[in-house]
Amino acid sequence: MNDTFLKACRGEATDYTPVWMMRQAGRYLPEYRQVRGSISFLELCKTPELCVQVTLQPVERLDVDAAILFSDILIPMEAMGLPLEFHDGRGPIFPETVRDRAGVEKLIVPNPEETMGFVMETIRLLRRELKVPLIGFAGAPFTCATYLIEGGSSKAFWETKKMMFTAPELFHQLMDKISRCTTAYLLAQARAGAQALQLFDSWAGILAPCDFEQYAAPYAARIISELQSTGLPIIYFANNGATLLEQSAATGANVIGIDWRINIGEAIKRIGPRAIQGNIDPAALLLPAEKLRERIKNLLDGARAARGHIFNLGHGIHQFTPPEQARIAVDAVHELSRR
Ligand code: CP3
Repeated sequence: MNDTFLKACRGEATDYTPVWMMRQAGRYLPEYRQVRGSISFLELCKTPELCVQVTLQPVERLDVDAAILFSDILIPMEAMGLPLEFHDGRGPIFPETVRDRAGVEKLIVPNPEETMGFVMETIRLLRRELKVPLIGFAGAPFTCATYLIEGGSSKAFWETKKMMFTAPELFHQLMDKISRCTTAYLLAQARAGAQALQLFDSWAGILAPCDFEQYAAPYAARIISELQSTGLPIIYFANNGATLLEQSAATGANVIGIDWRINIGEAIKRIGPRAIQGNIDPAALLLPAEKLRERIKNLLDGARAARGHIFNLGHGIHQFTPPEQARIAVDAVHELSRR
């Protein structure tokens, strides 16, 4: 059993720097595209045997030190009662949005085992196969809320901010409901065998620090506090969150994920004595091998001051990344960090 990743999460010494990549299972892998050729994305998410297969693909091909459950942050939002669709090339769509009191009240806080049993089944099956730790995950409440309110991806997040600023009580009610769903869901993942849990706050970076403080961080903090009983390391990743690092650390997460828009040395100073995860620009995987290795060497040097470093990209791997380049990066991290 390779527990290097878990040790780094806890800030313990490791023989080398562990590595995994956000969205490491997905369309950049030909073997993933082959599975997806015969099934829709949502059907794939609901078929445990296939989720196991695609979760294992990057573990085998890249030699990463952790696996991440194959699923999507919007699966529990569908379980809250809002129909979800994925259309190729357009991302997720909620045809009915949540924008008023009736919409918030209609949402249910589901029993995760009853409504998302396929996720827990995937976790149980994976634990039998894996020799590296398994990361479970959920979207952080703010990010989930944006999808419910906007009805999909967005640029200006106008409807979300409109609810925040013109109906704050309703917004808080929605955040509370999503948070209760998320806590129950992550506790169920832990019971099924997840060994670390990551909260993805992909859109937190669109908020002013004062609004992050008031409308988003308290809910992430509450979930993290409710997960303490599991004893599992919790990773909090706010994309575009370089302006929110102190507040992100204050959520109580054991590990703070950072994107590439900040130097890791500066981020380490700002998050204090806890582990850090990141932070190569996903596009930098396109660099010629020697330049890529050089960049990784610089990152590893910068991360020496950290109390635990997990190498990762600063956001999900891009769908047009050549898989061989990802493998070069993993090998470089392993080789260059070994003492
Ligand atoms: O990391 C992994 O390998 C695990 C799987 C995973 C997926 N989505 C699979 C997926 C994880 C951890 C996620 C999280 C997720 N989903 C986030 C947070 C991370 C981030 O990138 O910020 C978000 C915002 C979503 C919502 C979502 N799901 C979007 C916006 C999209 C469309 C993306 C696109 O490029 O079209 C998805 C679909 C999705 N989720 C795919 C995969 C592999 C592609 C679906 C396909 O096969 O067509």
